[in-house]
Amino acid sequence: MKRKIKQSFDLGAVTYDKFSEVQKEVGRLLLDFFKKNFSKKKNYNIYKDPISLVDLGCGTGEFSKKIISNFLIDKIKLIDISSEMIKCSKGKIKEKKVEFLVCDFDKYFELAEFNLIVSNMALHWSLNINKLLKNIISNMNAGSFFIFSVPNNNSFSNFKKLLPKDIMNNFFNVFPGENMIFNLRKNKNINFSTKKIKIFRKYFHPIHFLKELRKLGVNIKINNKQHNLFFLKKIDNKEFFLDYDISLCLIKKNET
Ligand SMILES: C[S@@+](CC[C@H](N)C(=O)[O-])C[C@H]1O[C@@H](n2cnc3c(N)ncnc32)[C@H](O)[C@@H]1O
Repeated sequence: MKRKIKQSFDLGAVTYDKFSEVQKEVGRLLLDFFKKNFSKKKNYNIYKDPISLVDLGCGTGEFSKKIISNFLIDKIKLIDISSEMIKCSKGKIKEKKVEFLVCDFDKYFELAEFNLIVSNMALHWSLNINKLLKNIISNMNAGSFFIFSVPNNNSFSNFKKLLPKDIMNNFFNVFPGENMIFNLRKNKNINFSTKKIKIFRKYFHPIHFLKELRKLGVNIKINNKQHNLFFLKKIDNKEFFLDYDISLCLIKKNET
């Protein structure tokens, strides 16, 4: 399955930046949420002292670029399973102390050297996000920050309405459930905040949305079930708004 995910993102890498408006918008809102919650006043060190940053599932490096332009950066590591995505990010991020790594974030735990761990619209590709989040939290240093965004399982309700019942249940990959995300509050070792945002994207036909998924490299099915999409072709051209339901999450590991 990981090989398929890698291949799909490798294919989408060249067109990713052109079609990733949603991901860019989510990245912008995640950064705003972070800066509002951890203001300069109360967290002077993160703004004043140079940061060591790691981006998990960095894609073409767009979100790292945003972080770099907002904070003082000491060193950066960009990690992605797709070598083609890493190639694109190399063209974009030219800082001195940057390291690129083609690697599966489900297997990467050397997080203690970073004081800011970020991930925008990527961790839902983990085969076990619950386990991954627990591992990240237990491996990060006290006092360090971990910020991430993921689409949650309320996404695409408008599109799901167009699908026959038998297809609807396993048409999309299962996104992280909101409960799983809320349960992070129970972890006493962290300070956790989360916020839900809705992003709507207009399409003139459902097929256009599916074609766009291919351009982003995200058209891979984790459960392996393929469907005959002929019924979609029969739907008349009629604009519809696809709804992304996104969870923005901020974690600061408590000092002991
Ligand atoms: C939707 S893109 C988001 C890219 C970028 N963070 C952004 O904001 O545009 C998801 C990225 O996660 C990467 N990815 C998926 N599964 C991964 C894994 N197990 N380990 C590392 N990267 C992974 C993909 O290759 C892809 O580049």
